Amino acid sequence: MYAKITAFFMSGTGNSYKVAKWFSESMEGLHTGLYQIREQQTTVTVGDNDLLVFSYPTHGFTAPWLMIKHIFRLPEGNGAHAVLLPTRAGTRILGLSLPGMEGTAGYLIAGLLWLRGYKVRGVAAIDMPSNWTALHWGLSDKNVKVIVDRGEQKVKRIAQTIASGRSFYNGFIPLVLGVLLAGVSFGYLIIGQMLLAKLFFASDKCNGCSLCKQICPKQSIQMIGNKPYWTYSCDSCMACMNFCPQKAIQVSPFTLFLYTYVGTIPVHFWISGNLGWSFTGQLPRSIWCLIQYVYILSSVALTYRLLHHVLRIRPLAALLSALSHTKYFRRYKSPGVSLGNIHRTD
Ligand SMILES: Cc1cc2nc3c(=O)[nH]c(=O)nc-3n(C[C@H](O)[C@H](O)[C@H](O)COP(=O)(O)O)c2cc1C
Ligand code: SF4
Ligand code: SF4
Repeated sequence: MYAKITAFFMSGTGNSYKVAKWFSESMEGLHTGLYQIREQQTTVTVGDNDLLVFSYPTHGFTAPWLMIKHIFRLPEGNGAHAVLLPTRAGTRILGLSLPGMEGTAGYLIAGLLWLRGYKVRGVAAIDMPSNWTALHWGLSDKNVKVIVDRGEQKVKRIAQTIASGRSFYNGFIPLVLGVLLAGVSFGYLIIGQMLLAKLFFASDKCNGCSLCKQICPKQSIQMIGNKPYWTYSCDSCMACMNFCPQKAIQVSPFTLFLYTYVGTIPVHFWISGNLGWSFTGQLPRSIWCLIQYVYILSSVALTYRLLHHVLRIRPLAALLSALSHTKYFRRYKSPGVSLGNIHRTD
């Protein structure tokens, strides 16, 4: 039925890579190309008879920026078929498996592909272990295994359906919830890159190896003073944090406290008149919001820049690291996935 499979994956910690690979391997007898989605464009030719497969993580109940951008970089579809397999945060609590929530992650990309001339034959989110290790512990090996095994079975079932010529569309309830939560997703896309990456810092354990910079699919890390500096394009894929050989990348609530209070509150108080003078009442609300937004972003940028320099003093980096919750968190990598699998240089 198909000439070949071209499978694209965006993957911070290996889940989406595995899903793309399982699907391709299940379509027996077909030649498969597996390509990493990253900032540096990979040139891929798409034939009319090819099946395109896309797997990528859900972020903020929608698809990450890099994935959205990738669709616009593809050649015109001319009716070529596509299957979308976003992954989402499966978890297990007290032996009970709980699904993630992909929201608009699948159907947003389906709509964009349709606009580019592709025929979408399948949309289904796959529960894989949650990788948001800036927020929570990496799951235990036992729970990871249960979730991954189920994910593999589901992907194989979908592949069989597609191979037999039928289509597969899942996830209408998450889509409705995703539309209701569109404001959250939009906020995440707009503010996530500006703020979330600013919570990362390199602890005293960092030896300046620059691996994090090399593997970042968004090219969002610069090395300044032999330490990683997170810029403004990070998609929070979690690759740097989970693959750092020294487990040196941390997130600390103290930095959030610093941004909130040192960075924004004094300015906020000054503008809003709490220091005795106000011009907010005379401004339209939209202008007031814009001023706040610009102030917040620029004060975070300034504070982060200063923090980066201060943290070159090792005892201070050690102190902030000790205050971080992630120092005590297990990291997560999809089982059996190596850095070489997901970080492509082709
Ligand atoms: C910043 C961030 C936001 C996330 N948001 C969601 C979400 O909204 N819904 C969900 O089900 N999973 C969410 N996840 C979990 C990931 O989508 C999931 O673990 C995915 O399988 C990771 O795939 P990867 O290893 O290929 O990067 C989020 C993870 C991160 C790091
Ligand atoms: S944070 Fe980790 S990966 Fe990055 S330079 Fe430091 S030791 Fe290397
Ligand atoms: S900086 Fe880290 S979390 Fe952000 S996109 Fe790059 S590798 Fe992913």
